[in-house]
Amino acid sequence: MKTLYFADQALHILDQTKLPSEETYIVTSEYRDVCRAIKILAVRGAPAIGVAAAYAVYLASVEYAGQTEYRKKIKEAAEEIRATRPTAVNLSWAVDKALSLLDGLNDEEIPQELLALADDILEEDMAMNQRIGEYGCTLFNKPQKMLTHCNAGALATAGYGTALGVVRSAHKKGLLSMVYADETRPLLQGSRLTVYELMSDDIPVTLITDNMAAYHMAKGLVDCIVVGADRIVANGDTANKIGTYNLAILAKYHRIPFYVAAPYSTFDLSLSEGTQIEIEQRDPDEVRMVQGMLVSPEHATVSNPAFDVTPAGLITAIITDRGIIQPVNEEMIRKLVHES
Ligand code: MRU
Repeated sequence: MKTLYFADQALHILDQTKLPSEETYIVTSEYRDVCRAIKILAVRGAPAIGVAAAYAVYLASVEYAGQTEYRKKIKEAAEEIRATRPTAVNLSWAVDKALSLLDGLNDEEIPQELLALADDILEEDMAMNQRIGEYGCTLFNKPQKMLTHCNAGALATAGYGTALGVVRSAHKKGLLSMVYADETRPLLQGSRLTVYELMSDDIPVTLITDNMAAYHMAKGLVDCIVVGADRIVANGDTANKIGTYNLAILAKYHRIPFYVAAPYSTFDLSLSEGTQIEIEQRDPDEVRMVQGMLVSPEHATVSNPAFDVTPAGLITAIITDRGIIQPVNEEMIRKLVHES
């Protein structure tokens, strides 16, 4: 089952809002539908929304082909696509890559080149995740009990996953004994997606609620924590799904290694520290409700940040497609990500 793919002039997006009960695809040739799919989290996870964004820019270029102010219209659509979710940098990264192509092309060439770019981003993402998995395994010398948060798996990428890429490679090499998956309130990406994805691949997984992580660490049931990232800035501060920061603090107290797994496209070296990252605030009903059922007073005041920032000092290592960053600091990051 693929997270997203392009065929018959349409983008096919596995609708993750329906998982695990239904496996259905949104099939569309309209960039506005792709924007909606990103906003409602039908497609989610930093690398996957980067891929979806690249195809969305292509779809806009097809829609406006032959019209006056062609490039202006593509650029406006690109900004609409960029604005769908603010925290994951892969989205802006993909949009910028698409826009930077326009200057060197004449109008007739634009659609085919944008499509080729989107295909490349998708293929490159898959290959990078496999490398992340390989590098991740060099950190382990015995089978690990790993804890993960949210879903940084095949469903969050073009395939294989970042944090779950490490899980998958470790499983293949006999270096995994158990994955503890946080359920990840409010939208349950852990229970709905990670558990579903790992069970589908016969990888041992145990579901826990978010507030059970400390218990399992104190019991010695967690050897390491592996999570994905939405944006890693120059000093190593890392934005990821809300609740990641809690885990990093717990890991430090329990002296458990805390690993972040991400491709180079998740690094944003234009920001110097995590306080500069824009954190997406989402609909209060996501907190008031679970799967459409009200679990609080109807008008309860809610705060719903979708991400938090883990300071670099709490991160043992960042596992990238270009190698391991350890210790996590600006010099190491620039050396590995920027200059290679
Ligand atoms: O809101 P989501 O589901 O898009 O959040 C996803 C995460 O926080 C992931 O951990 C992150 O994007 C990395 S995915 C490889």
